[in-house]
Order: sequence, then structure tokens, then C-alpha cells
Amino acid sequence: MEKFVIKGGNALKGDVIIGGAKNAAVAILPATILAADKCIIENLPCISDVMASLQILSELGARIRMISKSTYEIDTTHLECTEVSNELSRQMRASYYFLGALLGRFGCGQVAMPGGCNLGPRPIDQHLKAFTALGAEDSVEYGMIRVKADHLTGAHIFFDTVSVGATMNAMLAAVMADGQTILENVAREPHVVDLANCLNMMGADVHGAGTDVIKIRGVKQLHGCSYTIIPDQIEAGSYMVAAAITKGDVVLHNIIPKHLEPITAKLRAAGCEITEYDDALRITRTGPLHPLKIKTMPHPGFPTDMQPLMTVLLTLAEGTSIITEGIWENRFRYVDELVHMGANVQVDGQVAVVEGVKKLYPAPLRALDLRAGAAMVMAALAADGVSEIDETQHIERGYENIVEKLQAIGADIRRVEIPVNTITRAI
Ligand code: EPU
Repeated sequence: MEKFVIKGGNALKGDVIIGGAKNAAVAILPATILAADKCIIENLPCISDVMASLQILSELGARIRMISKSTYEIDTTHLECTEVSNELSRQMRASYYFLGALLGRFGCGQVAMPGGCNLGPRPIDQHLKAFTALGAEDSVEYGMIRVKADHLTGAHIFFDTVSVGATMNAMLAAVMADGQTILENVAREPHVVDLANCLNMMGADVHGAGTDVIKIRGVKQLHGCSYTIIPDQIEAGSYMVAAAITKGDVVLHNIIPKHLEPITAKLRAAGCEITEYDDALRITRTGPLHPLKIKTMPHPGFPTDMQPLMTVLLTLAEGTSIITEGIWENRFRYVDELVHMGANVQVDGQVAVVEGVKKLYPAPLRALDLRAGAAMVMAALAADGVSEIDETQHIERGYENIVEKLQAIGADIRRVEIPVNTITRAI
């Protein structure tokens, strides 16, 4: 177990290279199962969710070869097992993509109820609705989800809610089904488009990703491909907040500025100066922070995964901000930690009212989940003094080398091993 020790107050200055998108990678890795061939996947972020996905593939029988830190060759030709082990399923939310991919290739699959961040109820009824429409039967017993189909046939599916996971899982299951599948009311996130592009590189026939209707013509089989994952929109947004909160001057490289537009617009409104280049962006802040009204929504709305980070930034704005969480029922749990730092935030259900304060004070903090943890890092970077953040394994699930990347732009941050006897006492 490790903790981060952060001495706040430094203005962050310099360059950050953004890694591949976590939420694209965790769907594209299971998609390689459908190829039954060799795939080379590039720009994989070096984070624990990606390592767990690779381990699941390996346990299912895929041959995996590391070509570089961010490029892996995955050969799923001889994969036979269709059951994902309980322990690995529970390590991350995205293990549910193995259901769609295994169903698409073998007509059956099994995973344990997926884990991931605790953001309130996280049902998968829309995933199962799609599998059922394609001809599969599902059962949930002793925490295991099983899907099975004699034959998958294309279907017209109208999702009851806009779901990233259900959209991508339905795509995985449908690309080799007989006939046409039409998915309506789908998610439009950049990672949905990335999965569609990758599947098309494998020989699939997927159209419309990025709009709210996706049409898939089933093909008999797919083949291997070489594919580069898009940059991580939320990692980029997080370093933008790091620059903004410390009155810094940071250039982000390997990004797609278009994917960041909802974040860029709000940061500009908050008083940041942002210059966009083809695949880079510079963000600076010299003046005061202005308060904002933000409501999180599916893409192209403001992303929920940036909500905790923006809330932290707005604790230092001159005035009252109102933040409404429109996706998850319980994504303000981290606010108690901020209040310990002197922030003035009142939460009522899905709405947080943030009265800006002059400064944040250092405190012992917990990373309650991935983005809440990243938000605590931002708060600690701004606080005048030394803060410690526990449970940083949540942060490492989604941020590649966060300590090293922040150090390189001038942050005073260290990873410190927590002695085992201290952990035992704490439990
Ligand atoms: N929902 C249902 N039924 C379903 C699926 C979803 O009611 O079958 C509801 C959820 O309860 C939620 C809403 O629909 O209220 C949206 O959920 P969605 O399915 O879009 O979320 P997800 O696929 O489980 C992904 C990301 C999350 C991100 C959300 C929203 C992955 C692995 N996770 O989750 O990322 O918050 O989309 O954009 O892609 C993170 O990276 O920190 C993270 C939590």
C-alpha cells in the first residue's frame, strides 16, 4: 500500500504527454477476442485497469507479447476459455466488456458482477437487454453473470438510458450476429467511436458511432489489426485543472482538442487562457477564478468524470458555483474531505453549492475512488502545506505515472510506502 505526500503551493509549468484513453482501452482489449487472430494495440496507458484486462485475456488463453511500454500484441487465435475469474472481474468495472466479446465469438460468457468505483447503483440491465434482443439468455447466480445463445441475430434495440457500457457491449456482441443491428439512444463518447473504428479495422461493418444511432451489419468473421487508441480526455482534463488550480502554464501533448471542448469551454469561462494546436494545448491562468454553473451529461455535455476535479477548482473561485451531477447518484462523497481542507461546499442530493474560499489548508485525505482521488491530488497541489492522500490504488487504476508526470512540471509530490503494521493497525 502506498500514499501520496504532496506539498502544495508550486505553480505547475512544463509539458505533459497524455496517455491512451482508459475507457477506450478497456473495451478494445476484450474486442481483440472477436478477431481470433493477432492484434497490435498501441497507445495503451500503463494503468492497473489495463494490466487487469491483459491478465484476463491471458487467463482466457490469449498469447500476449509486450512490444513496448504502450504497445502489445494480443493473439486470441487459440482462446478457448469463456469464464473470467472472479477476482479479476471484481477488480474493475469494465470486466463487463468480456461478456459482449465472449458472447460475440463463442455464444457464451461468464463474469462476476463487475467492481469499479462506488458512485451509487450501477445496474447493467441495458447491457442484458441488448444481449437478450440479439437472442441470448442471461442468468445471475451467486454474483456470476452468465450469457448464452445458440445463435445471435441482429435486432433493433432502443436503450432506455444513454449508457457508454451498454452501447459498447451491444456493439461487441452484434458485430458477428446474423443480419443488421440498429442501436438507438446510444452514447456518443469519443471512446464509443474509438471502439467502432477498431472493430471496423478488424473487418466489422459499424456505422454512425458518434451519433445517437449506430447501425451494424453482421459479418461472418473478423481478422487481426493494428490499432492506436485515442488519447485520454479525462487525463488531459485533469492536468488542465492542475495547471488552473496552481496558476500554472502547462502544455499538453498527444491530445485531440475536439474531444476536450466541453472541458475547455468551462475552464475558459472560469478564467483560464487556452490555446489549441493540432494535437496539443496550452493552458495558463494569471487572474482570479470565476464561479460556474455545471451540469454533467452524456457526451458532448460536460463529462461526469471531470466533476470532482472541477468542484475542487471552484472551491477557490470568487463567488458561488452550482454543480449538478446528472449521471451518477452518489458522486459527491469526496466533499467531506474537501471540507476538512477549509472548502465551503453544501451538497443536497445531486447538487453541490460551492462558496469560493481564499485558500485550502493541507489535511490527511482519502482517495475514495478514481476521480475523487485525482481531485484530492488537485486540492493538495493548491493547499499551502503538506497533505497526505491514502488509498491511492484507486488513482493508479486510471492515471499513468501520475506522480512522475506531476513532478516533471514542478509539483512537490512523492509516493510513500505505508508499512504493513500501520495498515493492520488502521484496519
Ligand atoms: N445505467 C443503467 N443501466 C445500465 C447501464 C447504465 O441504468 O445498464 C445508468 C447508470 O446507472 C448511470 C448511467 O446509466 O446512471 C450512465 O452509465 P454508463 O453505463 O454510461 O456508465 P459505465 O459504462 O458504467 C462509463 C465509464 C465511467 C463514466 C461513465 C459515464 C468505463 C469503464 N467507465 O461507465 O468512468 O463515468 O461511463 O461517462 O468506461 C471513470 O473513468 O472514472 C468512470 C467512472
